[in-house]
Amino acid sequence: MTDWIRVCATSDLLPGEFQVAFDGDTAIAVFNIDGSLYAVEDICTHDGGELAGGPIEGFEVECPRHGAKFDLRTGEALCAPAYVPIAKFPVKIENDQVWTRDDR
Ligand code: FES
Repeated sequence: MTDWIRVCATSDLLPGEFQVAFDGDTAIAVFNIDGSLYAVEDICTHDGGELAGGPIEGFEVECPRHGAKFDLRTGEALCAPAYVPIAKFPVKIENDQVWTRDDR
């Protein structure tokens, strides 16, 4: 397990926005949904598409490549063509900074 990595300042992750950070080789997308932060691996389990930048509706992010949807709260795959959940990571705010880490 690695240490926490800094994502950005809280002022750079406002509601409706996302940021991507790397913990080693792991791309982690952090989303601000109505003031709550959710961190997931930025790789679609269907065919490796980047989820960051995909359309968001409620707590769901849609993969821009083929339209799979995932619940950002749980990582659960919600529709085809993805069936395997995406990894979900811890996220915290400390000293006005956003932090996450690959805790697998
Ligand atoms: S790569 Fe995401 S739906 Fe195909």
